[in-house]
Amino acid sequence: MLVLALIFVCVVVYYIRFRHMRKHLYQISEILPGVGELPLIGHTHWFIGGPEKLLKNIQELAELVDSSGGTSKVWIGPSLYFVTLNPDDVQKILENCLEKDGSYKFLQQWLGDGLFVAPVDLWKVHRRVLLPIFHNKILEDFVPVFGQQASILVKRLEEQVGKPDFDIFKYITSCMLDIVFETAMGEKMDVQHNPDTPYLRARSCVMSIINMRLFKAWLQPDALFKLTPYAKIQQENIDYTHKFTDEVVMKKKEQCGSQDQQKEGKKDLLELLLHREIKFTNEQLREHIDSITIAGNDTTALVIAYALLLLGSHEEAQDIVVDELNSIFGESDRAPTKEDINKMHYLERVIKETMRLYTVVPIIGRRTQKDIKLTNFTLPAGVGCAVAPFVMHRSKRLWGPTANCFDPDRFLPENSVDRHPCAFIPFSFGSRNCIGRHFGMMVMKSVLATILRAYKIRSKAINRLKIEILLFPVPGHMVSIEKRNK
Ligand code: HEM
Repeated sequence: MLVLALIFVCVVVYYIRFRHMRKHLYQISEILPGVGELPLIGHTHWFIGGPEKLLKNIQELAELVDSSGGTSKVWIGPSLYFVTLNPDDVQKILENCLEKDGSYKFLQQWLGDGLFVAPVDLWKVHRRVLLPIFHNKILEDFVPVFGQQASILVKRLEEQVGKPDFDIFKYITSCMLDIVFETAMGEKMDVQHNPDTPYLRARSCVMSIINMRLFKAWLQPDALFKLTPYAKIQQENIDYTHKFTDEVVMKKKEQCGSQDQQKEGKKDLLELLLHREIKFTNEQLREHIDSITIAGNDTTALVIAYALLLLGSHEEAQDIVVDELNSIFGESDRAPTKEDINKMHYLERVIKETMRLYTVVPIIGRRTQKDIKLTNFTLPAGVGCAVAPFVMHRSKRLWGPTANCFDPDRFLPENSVDRHPCAFIPFSFGSRNCIGRHFGMMVMKSVLATILRAYKIRSKAINRLKIEILLFPVPGHMVSIEKRNK
């Protein structure tokens, strides 16, 4: 009895202390508008369920927020977020809050201080140093790699010609891995022919554990997570992936000799990093390269696969793309050059419309470091902010009554002039936006063009989606393909 009483007293004391330490958050919460919350648990009930249910709940909650003025506070367990669907406020948040939200800490054990998760002071220095290596002039050197890997993809797809629906994503993601590994670190991994290596298994194991932690509140506190078997499995697999990239970095440094001697001709991103004004440590090089290969692979592969699904169910649009490609390539079956890529205007609009309807990075999280004046009130320092591009991209307020329809011509220059700069933000916005967006656009155009010149795609409309860090269709990117007549 005495023991129970003692435990009770300890819990009460802990709770009072916990509330006291977080007094400022409750004060902030008072001034923010809110919808859909329950006493004590806040909005936690919206975030329970599998990946498909979770997405539906988030969409429903977002609709509630949208219909009640476009801003709301959201309490997920003990964490307070400010959510806004108002483009003016989104712009202010993405321009002024450059610190990532606390939920990104699950990635930090893996990616360390790589650009994606780096704390803002370090990020400012490193982003400035990394920016020039993502310049269009440098990326153009990678175009032949895009073409070579896309033509291997086309050969691999032959095994599916004339067969029933299959999931094209796994073919595309292998192709993207080969492209990203070769351009980022000069490694020819040949994932397209060897998709099941221990390194790739380790990567996907770490990603699925991080995804599980993000959406399962009880796995979030480190103390509880460490009690589960997942902690050991995650550590072992992170160690494995680190060892892999560490070895690549060491090998590259040996190949390049002294960091002061630069070789002529095409260089991969790691080589370029070796010759920047900052001498990165081996650990920093690994963190940047891992961040780039992780941020650049599934994102681009997903957009390519969604574009094929959309074109497969919109035959007229597919015909326009193919006419455009015929006018660029004629009878030739050469790989796309940078000049060809620049001429793919309609395909670019298809890709943009795909990213609007299927925004593969659905939510962006930031944290205020200073007070920020928004349209209707001032957001104090220390609050998490959630921006939901996938909700804004389908908002009828921003895109009109046909917001849910596929119409690439929305992105014609004359139809885009009056659009708010934050109405369309698949690559985020502001100085912490996607550093790989030009790389992404070039590679997506090149791979899509190569597939569509070889195959006619058929698919059914996408009805079910789920969120697993990124946005995936259920049951997959199912298409059927047939060879085009030359
Ligand atoms: C369709 C393709 C892509 C999409 C939709 C996309 C989207 C995004 C978004 C939304 C962010 C901001 C995330 C956040 O603030 O939470 C981001 C950041 C980033 N992306 Fe991409 N990305 C794509 C392709 C790429 C590629 C190809 C690369 C590299 C080769 C890349 C590298 C990065 C990096 C390093 C960051 C962190 C930037 C920073 O914090 O300074 N991304 N991306």
